[in-house]
Amino acid sequence: NKRTKIKDLLSGEQVGQEVIVMGWVRSFRNNQFVAINDGSTNNNIQIVIELGLIDEVTAKRITTGASLKVSGTLIESLGKGQKVEIKATSLEILGDSDAEKYPLQPKKHSLEFLREKAHLRFRTNTFGAVFRVRHALAFAIHQFFNERGFVYLHTPILTASDAEGAGEMFQVTTLPLNNLPKKENNEIDFSQDFFGKATNLTVSGQLEGELGAMAFSDIYTFGPTFRAENSNTTRHLAEFWMIEPEMAFYDLEDNRILAEEFIKYLIGYAMKHNREDLEFLDTRLKEEEKSLPQEKRSELGLIEKLEFVLNNNFEHISYSEAIDILLASPAYKKKKFKYEIKWGIDLQSEHERYLVEKHFKKPVIVTDYPKDIKAFYMRQNDDGKTVAAMDILAPGIGEIVGGSQREERLDKLEKRMKEMDIPADEMSWYLDTRRFGSVPHAGFGLGFERMVLFVTGMTNIRDVIPFARTPKNCEF
Ligand code: 4AD
Ligand code: MG
Repeated sequence: NKRTKIKDLLSGEQVGQEVIVMGWVRSFRNNQFVAINDGSTNNNIQIVIELGLIDEVTAKRITTGASLKVSGTLIESLGKGQKVEIKATSLEILGDSDAEKYPLQPKKHSLEFLREKAHLRFRTNTFGAVFRVRHALAFAIHQFFNERGFVYLHTPILTASDAEGAGEMFQVTTLPLNNLPKKENNEIDFSQDFFGKATNLTVSGQLEGELGAMAFSDIYTFGPTFRAENSNTTRHLAEFWMIEPEMAFYDLEDNRILAEEFIKYLIGYAMKHNREDLEFLDTRLKEEEKSLPQEKRSELGLIEKLEFVLNNNFEHISYSEAIDILLASPAYKKKKFKYEIKWGIDLQSEHERYLVEKHFKKPVIVTDYPKDIKAFYMRQNDDGKTVAAMDILAPGIGEIVGGSQREERLDKLEKRMKEMDIPADEMSWYLDTRRFGSVPHAGFGLGFERMVLFVTGMTNIRDVIPFARTPKNCEF
């Protein structure tokens, strides 16, 4: 008397046995065949209802979205499209779903439509596949670092510092709602902030991560981060997840090698454990691209692309080389770029995508950026102009990783912080890592949603996080 997940029934090992399944109706046809799904796989199981098993009233209640409990015998299916099906011996409706009101129909809905119905979209094949892959990648991240002896360090979400020094924080008003401090005139007294100072949501766990690396040698963080950048693009979220490993005794090259190995490990993991979902997403992408003109379609299918990335080295160039390539490109000569190109600019997404999609046609690691466009903590190179920074650019996405070797020399770091107006007195705790046993160290941040985009072939970041937070969008 135990429920079996649909995924476990589909192998057919239990043919002939009595089974119980529970799930949600995807379709009901000919008053005889119900397809139900429980989220363990994209494949539905077909329930066969023989004449007389249920009365007419019950039959009418089997509508898309309703939840059912079915007992029956698992049998080999005669129909095409499925190996096994269940010959029902009993069927119980657990929860009705008003067909007039239920927004999902047994047909293809657009991603835009489903974004509006984000609270129900897990119940579709596309989002079922995407979020199972997302889960698997999260699991693989912990496995990768655990196998290498990294310590998972939980860094705070509420913080007083701006790790990136870019001022993209959401300030938090920390007033206890159950005990609001009031002024004499009964207005809220904002000066009585819970923490006694201005706080914000973290933009990155890196600085705290560095403290950990100076004790455990190798750590990683994996948690939500927040950025108040008002960019309404298909690549930016206000709340996104980031993985930030930080390693003592690493230089930029060690950092680069680890990052490439890490990305390949994640892809390999999904290819092995999520084959069915990736095949589904591969087909979905091909269907989707049918409506595009030939030159806009992907050259490789999703699985081909992932295999290619697994089996080839990432390209490695310096920022200066990247600028030279862009200036020599046919696209530049034909004035195809919107933003100007010269040494010193921050690479725009159109530049990044040209490098990976048109020029190299593979992931590219760009290192040694101008110091003026990068954060204060990056190690200064001997040329006095660049820092030991590293970005990884992925086809179809652009920047997926940002990292660097850190400035471990106290005097140089203090000087740079002064130049960049970073309040060194408030960051004494951070500078202590350079005062007491400072060592060369490096790290990087992988944007989790951008990685999920890459692996699933989805094109809008809102479609790879369960609940997207973007400008003017925080429904629930
Ligand atoms: O390049 P970023 O800003 O680097 C850092 O935060 C460093 N502290 C990382 C480190 O060295 N430990 O961000 C890292 C990555 C980007 O490459 C991108 O993939 C992702 O985080 N990212 C975003 N993803 C979604 N929405 C946003 N608004 C993002 N901003 C950055
Ligand atoms: Mg960056």
